[in-house]
Amino acid sequence: MYPLRRNRRLRTNEAIRSLVREIAITPNDFIAPLFVVEGKNKKEEIASMPNYFRLSLDLLEKEVKELWNLGIKSVLLFVKVPEDLKDNAGKEALNANGLMQRAIKTAKNAVPEMLVMTDVALDPYSAYGHDGVVSNGKILNDDSSAILAEMGLSHAKAGADILAPSDMMDGRIFEMRTLLEDEGFQETGIMSYSAKYASAFYGPFRDALDSAPVDAEDIPKDKKTYQMDPANRDEAVKESLMDIEEGADIVMVKPGLCYLDIVRDLKNAVNIPVAVYQVSGEYAMIKAAAEKGWLDHDAVVLEQLTAIKRAGASMIASYFAKDAVKLIS
Ligand code: PBG
Repeated sequence: MYPLRRNRRLRTNEAIRSLVREIAITPNDFIAPLFVVEGKNKKEEIASMPNYFRLSLDLLEKEVKELWNLGIKSVLLFVKVPEDLKDNAGKEALNANGLMQRAIKTAKNAVPEMLVMTDVALDPYSAYGHDGVVSNGKILNDDSSAILAEMGLSHAKAGADILAPSDMMDGRIFEMRTLLEDEGFQETGIMSYSAKYASAFYGPFRDALDSAPVDAEDIPKDKKTYQMDPANRDEAVKESLMDIEEGADIVMVKPGLCYLDIVRDLKNAVNIPVAVYQVSGEYAMIKAAAEKGWLDHDAVVLEQLTAIKRAGASMIASYFAKDAVKLIS
């Protein structure tokens, strides 16, 4: 008798397929990244991210409510900082009344139960477009970490629930956790971008925030001295285990699609949740191909998000969060 087993029996119809399905994405899986800009009633489309917008605080409030009503319970905030407020040390990042600090309050006021996460890195504030302080062609590690810890504390004071350091300086999780504990913010969590690669997929994001490394003498043109080499796998585990030791509550792999082997490695190596960031370039690729009629947008979005979860993600930061939740509900 051949074949001995007929696997197709379990694929005969949707009823049986749904019974044997191993995972499903749900609204609980998503973190919605949001870009915030100064002004009133501003909704600026990002050129390289069709149908994604920078929002002024009044529209941020509406968006947070809408996301909550759709079942999305977490947002990740980024701000576009006016050019004249940028400097080398990112001083504006510590302004208690800065755009990020106001955005946190706006989001928490809009929906107090919404989990508000914030990006912690200097690049949107840096005159040079780097995640830390630049000196003699280098990004200073310890000076940057100290500022990043203060930045995290400032977000915590404004009401952030989870800080998401995306800078890849060494030791910054320890520095931030220690400062939070000292200042009485025991409940504020840290989601570390622990395995963040020096990826070409961040291009559209840097357009969104105008945060790309500037083209000037003695300014590194890329972030390869702090973000990870895409060729490395074991290093992602090392980085993440160290961040856990330093106090991270959640670790993250970024970008998503090209790094699902890393997601599975971390899932197997750590016993805390693994987050995945499906980044701006991944969003742009799908949008561009769909615009040309070359790919089925909705099907590809759901397939990629499902694959990210299957790889081991406990949560996914995605510009498709809202689309996906609408598609699955
Ligand atoms: C800032 C930061 C970046 C992203 C998230 N936080 C850009 C970078 O490191 O250059 C990228 C997100 C995306 O591409 O969607 N440190």
